[in-house]
Amino acid sequence: MNVSPDRNQQAHAAGGSCENLPRHVAFIMDGNGRWATARGLPRTEGHRQGLEALRGTIRHAGKLGIEVVTIYSFSSENWNRPQTEVSFLMGLLRRFVQRDLSELHDANVRIRVIGGREDLEKGILALLEEAEQLTRNNTGLNLVVAFNYGARAEIARAARKLSLQVAQGHLNSEDITEDAISQALDTYGLPDPDLIVRTSGEMRLSNFLLWQAAYSEFYFCEKHWPDFDEAAFDEALSCFSNRQRRYGGLDAEAL
Ligand code: FPP
Repeated sequence: MNVSPDRNQQAHAAGGSCENLPRHVAFIMDGNGRWATARGLPRTEGHRQGLEALRGTIRHAGKLGIEVVTIYSFSSENWNRPQTEVSFLMGLLRRFVQRDLSELHDANVRIRVIGGREDLEKGILALLEEAEQLTRNNTGLNLVVAFNYGARAEIARAARKLSLQVAQGHLNSEDITEDAISQALDTYGLPDPDLIVRTSGEMRLSNFLLWQAAYSEFYFCEKHWPDFDEAAFDEALSCFSNRQRRYGGLDAEAL
């Protein structure tokens, strides 16, 4: 893996011991509800604490010099939750953008939103677009917020985009390559995730970054998301640094 020395120096300075720092870490922030229920609290309190864990994670990733962090903040299937919980999560996103945007901008964070935008409530869409606009020239951590996101829907959107270009005569069907598909996805221009972390003991992708995860390493931990702290993040990174990535090939020693 190509790791720039500066990023590893940054990691050491931040107290991390990671030699092979991933460029892109994606998080499935699971277990907010269980965290709350275990404490006799309403599920919404789990989401509130989950937001605190998210803030800490973004800060730590920035200190370590990780280039991209993607968070699964609301899936296209999450609309099926009770209306009160959906409204709470919308309010939480609103508060996150309203309260944290200027701090994230000052920290040179660039925000990008992936997911379906067509049926989003206008106020939410305007906030998300404002966050993208304000931070578009920042050069620090890329924070990719997967909101109203589903990977199959994203791939279908990309297929529609490409087929329209073919129908209009701007693209030959032979030119629909893997690269062309990558560039038609919401994540165009971003490196694929090196590491996908899922908390709370569940071991599945749940329609998250299906195309982009082709060669990702997975890290599953038992902690519920609200308990995911710097030490847990460091543990995931340390585990990643010991993985052998072969991309379908062989280790150099085996050749
Ligand atoms: C999964 O836990 C978590 C979510 C569906 C939402 C994730 C949201 C946050 C971490 C807070 C930050 C939010 C925004 C919008 C920026 P779960 O509710 O599925 O937990 P469970 O599996 O224990 O029920």
